[in-house]
Amino acid sequence: MSLKDRVAKNFQQPNLKEAKKRTRNNTDVLYKNETQIDGELIGIGKNKTYHIKTYGCQMNEHDTEVMAGILTVMGYEETDDMFEADVVILNTCAIRENAENKVFGKIGSLKKTKLENPEKIIAVCGCMGQEEKVVNTLLKKYQFIDIIFGTHNIHRLPNLILQSIREKAMVVEVWSGEGNIIEDLPKTRASNKKAWVNIIYGCDKFCTYCIVPFTRGKERSRMPKDILEEIKELKEKGYVEVTLLGQNVNAYGKDLNIGYTMGDLLEDVAKIGIERIRFTTSHPWDFDDHMINIIGKYDNIMPNLHLPVQSGDDAVLKIMGRSYNIEKYLDIFDKVKKAKPGITITTDIIVGYPNETEEQFQKTLDIYNRCKFDLAYTFIFSPREGTPADKMEDNVSLEDKKKRLYRLNELVDKYSSESNQKMIGKTLKVLVDGPSNKDETILAGYSEENKLVHFKGDESLIGEIVEVKITDAKKFNISGELVN
Ligand code: 5AD
Ligand code: SF4
Repeated sequence: MSLKDRVAKNFQQPNLKEAKKRTRNNTDVLYKNETQIDGELIGIGKNKTYHIKTYGCQMNEHDTEVMAGILTVMGYEETDDMFEADVVILNTCAIRENAENKVFGKIGSLKKTKLENPEKIIAVCGCMGQEEKVVNTLLKKYQFIDIIFGTHNIHRLPNLILQSIREKAMVVEVWSGEGNIIEDLPKTRASNKKAWVNIIYGCDKFCTYCIVPFTRGKERSRMPKDILEEIKELKEKGYVEVTLLGQNVNAYGKDLNIGYTMGDLLEDVAKIGIERIRFTTSHPWDFDDHMINIIGKYDNIMPNLHLPVQSGDDAVLKIMGRSYNIEKYLDIFDKVKKAKPGITITTDIIVGYPNETEEQFQKTLDIYNRCKFDLAYTFIFSPREGTPADKMEDNVSLEDKKKRLYRLNELVDKYSSESNQKMIGKTLKVLVDGPSNKDETILAGYSEENKLVHFKGDESLIGEIVEVKITDAKKFNISGELVN
């Protein structure tokens, strides 16, 4: 069969140039009556199973919860076994090349089961689905895939499945421009105590290395009332923790032009009285004093902040298009520490940016020593197609980049161990997640400071917030005894 025979009608491929455009078009918000899954779409999944494999960030994890909700309404049941499932969805990440390679490997491993069971539906979505180059590769080399869609049209999943079944052909529907905000989609949340809540979609920052503004579209904030209602409902259902999500949460509200900012939203969420509020990811760009005051003012806003610095050198930050210098970063860092004593601060750092000198890298080590971050996620720069940094000449060898990453990670380990050591003797409030992944006989959960805590306790404590006195610290976790 030729590719032409395999491709369904209404083929819509991603387009990088379109994805880069930012329009002044208003974003409409669609509510339940306009987005209901009904009619022939319900029941398609009766006696059938689904499996979603999620790669990448929290945004993807939450998109997976929405897709799981949609599939449940259609009648599908979840299975752990992707090779058995009638519908397999790979929700992908495009942030670095190695993230993409993992996905290609997984897709390849599914080929045999698809050939054995032609009725099986294999779908690829998420950020890689938005990439022109990736979709071209999938079309050429992975023609056994049934559906390709992106980040902007997950609500179309039922229609895409139906089309794939009817036409027995590869359905490709990727929207390069972002669509509306779709409220009220069903969700099957992974936890009944901790919930992700989207507050803003997309990113307009266009850091020169980053693919996200292309794959997630322009910044679009949800209406405050929709966010607050969702959180009130979660609280009524017994949820104790919400994490407000956005590629850049600090930009929240700017596009709404109603004079309502992230600080205002945080305050209104705090007033709802849910026990624990977290938010990610912050950009120093829109981090204002109002927000810092609110973080300090409310005890239910957790003492943990993820604030990516990316580099310790002003010239590199400028080439990255980050819009702040180190002085500004430190100003925010110090103010936050002062406003909320005991807050832990984590960061992201890229090493080996094109032409990064040894001196510039040394400045990254310097800022690390200055801030003593509680933890950091560190990466070697990975060129992404369509981004300005992809076209920059680079005189740093991969070997040197790896050495820099190693040197930086030595500092990361040193300070994360120190940060954990500091917890010894303290009594921390821990939301119990369940048995530890490594040892079923002990419980694991996260403290307010976002430290992974292990302790002995009864399974009936799962879902509760308990007090644990810390007695021991390792590089990536701490442990202690339950306080009665
Ligand atoms: N190469 C390496 N790291 C990247 N990040 C984003 N894009 C790239 C890239 N092209 C890192 C940044 C960001 C985190 C989520 O991933 O540090 O904060
Ligand atoms: Fe990427 Fe920068 Fe936007 Fe973060 S702020 S998603 S790093 S472009």
